[in-house]
Amino acid sequence: MLRAIVAACCGAMLDMMAVSFVVQPMRMRGRRSAYFYPKHLCSALLCKELPPSLASLLDLLPAYTETSFIYTCGGTLKGRNGTIESPGFPYGYPNGANCTWVIVVEEGNRIQIVFQSFAVEEEYDFLSLYDGHPHPANFRTRLTGFQMPPPVTSTGSVFSLRLTSDFAVSAHGFKIYYEELQSSACGNPGVPPKGILSGTRFNVGDKIRYSCVTGYVLDGHPQLTCITNAANMAVWDFPVPICRAEDTCGDTLRGSSGIISSPNFPSEYYNNADCTWTILADPGDTISVIFTDFQTEEKYDYLEVEGSEPPTIWLSGMNVPSPIVSNKNWLRLHFVTDSNHRYKGFSAHYQGRHSLQSTPTGAPMPAV
Ligand SMILES: *[C@@H]1O[C@H](CO)[C@@H](O)[C@H](O)[C@H]1NC(C)=O
Ligand SMILES: *[C@@H]1O[C@H](CO)[C@@H](O)[C@H](O)[C@H]1NC(C)=O
Repeated sequence: MLRAIVAACCGAMLDMMAVSFVVQPMRMRGRRSAYFYPKHLCSALLCKELPPSLASLLDLLPAYTETSFIYTCGGTLKGRNGTIESPGFPYGYPNGANCTWVIVVEEGNRIQIVFQSFAVEEEYDFLSLYDGHPHPANFRTRLTGFQMPPPVTSTGSVFSLRLTSDFAVSAHGFKIYYEELQSSACGNPGVPPKGILSGTRFNVGDKIRYSCVTGYVLDGHPQLTCITNAANMAVWDFPVPICRAEDTCGDTLRGSSGIISSPNFPSEYYNNADCTWTILADPGDTISVIFTDFQTEEKYDYLEVEGSEPPTIWLSGMNVPSPIVSNKNWLRLHFVTDSNHRYKGFSAHYQGRHSLQSTPTGAPMPAV
């Protein structure tokens, strides 16, 4: 009887939430995951404030909700190009979804994925990308939240996507366009927010150019050329630049070495800072960054480093981080502070390295 009441109460609530909530991002400046989750408030307030005699029954709920909401979809897609949409797009995907799409193209070719829309309940629902079949060894990244991800290119002829959602709260979902890339094609690298792309051909030898709308400055290399790399694969020689608002801080750094510091260093940085530095080296070279100072408000003021392994490194707090080495010819540093508490910030030395550099004995340098 009690069990029936709990199941009815919380089950009805979950049913209701399953259809009625499509979350909208309510982002707070400088905070990464400050979204509002009706689901968790409701379950905390309604279900978990039951008398202790009922509380033990709540242990049954996850099983109850997961088994009754499981929703599978997806499939294998073949063909030169196509689109994939999450079920119900753009009106919200189902709860309890576990949908896997596998894209297969001709052996020797690659696959490019371009996002056209992306909104997934942040930190509870995910779109996982696999560079190959959907096995853990091929796992590349897990996307969540409301920011449009940049295009992704596979290394082989198979690429997979898996959407998993939890038992409540949905969002618009995603829509992607995929295209088979010949070995001589770099593919459309996409347009950054506030950017303009000139050029419509994306094969070896082709050049494209980026600019920014009024009020924004371009960080990075404005021209990209599709070249053939050491593995005989067509790749762009530089990353897609970003467009930074004119009143924000940052720079594009091209020298073989230099120093990057937070605003006012070694005095305290300011509140609500949002700075981006792009470090570029010649195609084939890598860049290392060695920190000499690091003091930020733990969790709330942070430095994000993009372009190494793992693809994004998040640094915050009082410890001087270990050196970082890029895996291509660029690194991007993004420094964000919130509206209170200021510290000394960071200072780092960067240096470009020639990847084919030899040691004095002529033996190749070990890969880092
Ligand atoms: C997809 O490929 C077909 C040819 O296979 C082409 O006609 C069509 O324009 C392509 N669609 C897009 C959106 O590029
Ligand atoms: C989704 O389904 C696959 C098999 O189709 C399974 O291996 C995986 O564990 C499931 N994921 C979740 C989160 O249930």
